[in-house]
Amino acid sequence: MERLDKILANTGRWSRKEVRELVRAGRVTVDGQVAPAPDGKYDPKSRFAVDGQEVSGEPMVYLMLHKPAGLVSATEDPRQPTVLELLPEHLRRVGLFPAGRLDKDTEGLLLLTNDGPLAHRLLSPRHHVDKVYFVRVEGRLEAGDVAAFARGMTLGDGLVCMPAGLELLEEPDCALVTLREGKYHQIKRMLACRGKPVRYLKRLSMGPLTLDPVLERGQWRYLTADEVALLDGNRGR
Ligand code: URA
Repeated sequence: MERLDKILANTGRWSRKEVRELVRAGRVTVDGQVAPAPDGKYDPKSRFAVDGQEVSGEPMVYLMLHKPAGLVSATEDPRQPTVLELLPEHLRRVGLFPAGRLDKDTEGLLLLTNDGPLAHRLLSPRHHVDKVYFVRVEGRLEAGDVAAFARGMTLGDGLVCMPAGLELLEEPDCALVTLREGKYHQIKRMLACRGKPVRYLKRLSMGPLTLDPVLERGQWRYLTADEVALLDGNRGR
């Protein structure tokens, strides 16, 4: 049994102070009953709702962020700003980390969660979760590049890359890249090896999760329950 304010603050959606205000305003119910006090003790498996919207008392948080260039995908860094700086204060204290890093100059979909097992499954090549990126290069992409990606590449520095997708787009310097792994600077290194350095890179999707077009660079939102369930659907695959 835990205090109501702690259970709801652990979800990362509200600070403890905000939870206390919500409870005092009668906006929180537990198992259908209006919660009388923020320090009441409950089983975190109870049914919690705020303004009638169900909220899981399990302290797992899942956010999608439209990462802008210029921030590092880390929880802390001695010299450079991190993506966590885009989040409000109370969300920086719930153990969130980026599930799958993007380079400092890469933009796009970044999943932030404190669900370690889920992150591990999404990132392990064994679980076959495709990550799709939009890329713009210096030079023109062509059928030879598509074939090299499809075969799998061993780079000059010895890095072995699994077969990957390269779909040419109308503009000759643009393509969609699909990877099942995420080695350091992988797309940049693969394309540099083809003599076509990357000028711009953006992640569009990870498995069933697609970057929400309403999110501007630097904006984030909670995953919906359906999105979390879809990601969970990859469990054990
Ligand atoms: N590949 C890269 O080179 N950079 C990224 O940020 C992601 C994939």
